[in-house]
Amino acid sequence: MKKTSLSFVIFMFLSGVISAQNKVTLNTDLAKTKISKHIYGHFAEHLGNCIYGGMYVGESNTKIPNTNGVRNDVIAALKDLKVPNLRWPGGCFADTYQWKDGIGPKTKRPSMINAWWGGVTEDNSFGTHDFLDLCERIGADPYLAGNVGSGTVKDLSDWVTYVNHKSGSPMSDLRKQNGRANPWNVTLWGVGNEAWGCGGNMTADYYSNIYRQYATFMSDSKDAKLFKIASGASDGDYAWTETLMKNIPHNMLSGVALHHYSVLSWGDKGPAVDFTEAQYFKTMDEAWKMEEFVTRHSTIMDKYDPAKKIALVVDEWGGWYNVEAGTNPGFLFQQNTMRDAMIAGITLNIFNNHADRVRVANLAQIVNVLQSVVLTKEEKMILTPTYHVMKMYNVHQDATLVPINLETESYEYDGRKLPTVSVSASKDATGSMNVSLTNIDFSKAREVTINLRGEDFSKVSGQILASAKINDYNSFENPNKISIQDFKGAKLEKGVLKLSLPAYSVVVLNLKK
Ligand code: AHR
Repeated sequence: MKKTSLSFVIFMFLSGVISAQNKVTLNTDLAKTKISKHIYGHFAEHLGNCIYGGMYVGESNTKIPNTNGVRNDVIAALKDLKVPNLRWPGGCFADTYQWKDGIGPKTKRPSMINAWWGGVTEDNSFGTHDFLDLCERIGADPYLAGNVGSGTVKDLSDWVTYVNHKSGSPMSDLRKQNGRANPWNVTLWGVGNEAWGCGGNMTADYYSNIYRQYATFMSDSKDAKLFKIASGASDGDYAWTETLMKNIPHNMLSGVALHHYSVLSWGDKGPAVDFTEAQYFKTMDEAWKMEEFVTRHSTIMDKYDPAKKIALVVDEWGGWYNVEAGTNPGFLFQQNTMRDAMIAGITLNIFNNHADRVRVANLAQIVNVLQSVVLTKEEKMILTPTYHVMKMYNVHQDATLVPINLETESYEYDGRKLPTVSVSASKDATGSMNVSLTNIDFSKAREVTINLRGEDFSKVSGQILASAKINDYNSFENPNKISIQDFKGAKLEKGVLKLSLPAYSVVVLNLKK
């Protein structure tokens, strides 16, 4: 291009005659990597009203309809969401948990103090059988987080035997005595949690050795080959990942964890609902950091494991704000607005696009704690905007990732910029394609052009999650203010899709031949 015509284009661009563009190319013929359904996992900790009140109400003394003490409304909502796996019992709680106190007759179970979360009494009425039966009911694979910080090697080894080994050991006999003849065959196991912090304040070197020791005595059974996950880094602690990858023999390591929360600051975390644009921008900035963390931790893993056999397991992620006024500060109860829908939209696109390495992830947490998909208040239950995003995106579970090229405009605030449009796409077993798009802009709709390279499609349909205000949320008084709607705004012509994404919206398109 000649100098004069380039300046002309720049002039036209600056004067708004030519607008910047959001252009996506979907390379449908290059699709090969499976998006593990386990990227869409959840996390339930003994924290606040996540378990007690939120999921488990007990079998007696409650008017709330339940099955073996677990709320029927929550079971139905989680089944419908297609929860692929559920991590339990923590979090920080996991490294204080004595699993043997949570089995056998409920009246005989000893109590403990939940030291991390509000100092409340934990009566152990929800234990191993209750959790694993709940997972069976909602169709989720259990992900058990073992106690390494304050439990013994034998405790963890016994837990594996209790839940997975059919017979021939005191632990399997004990399980049978407690009413469960067949093992549950749990494959996903965490070897501690946040070992650098609440899990024991260990160094990476020390934890690597501890991991080797504990993992040695967690044995496979005939029907359950264990997928052992090492307690991983927080945010950009790349040295932690490097030490683990270097020190732990790869034949005893299936996954390395990573935790990242979208938090304004660990002091004042800001309000969950009445946030300003400055706070919104900062939350989006934190959410987008997941791209950098996943990329850089993966690069380190590539150095030691170029075949990508070991998974990056982002087993805690989500928004974290100040608790709702009047609630127990140790219970981490927060409302969930369209801002949280944006975090979910961006993050799940990041995970999909890194499906070659990120193969398990868990949103924190499933009910009544942090960025929940379900909130409860006595007999009432609501689904949050985050629930709806997870539901819209579940079309990607176990589908084949379609690699994309993306050119996006920026969402700008106070001289700082973030990518405003985020996208991921996959092909499912029926040959149809699903494309998920998020526009995080605080006020502007964005026009998007999508080129479909390599395959022809003739029909497009879609769903959208949007609302009048960014801080809108579903309340117990108005539970359906935000819900999934049909989206008819995508036009498909000669292999090109065009659509307008409203400000702070999530759209999922389905393309058929
Ligand atoms: O999800 C709340 C807490 O955050 C978890 O218990 C801990 O692992 C993390 O620090």
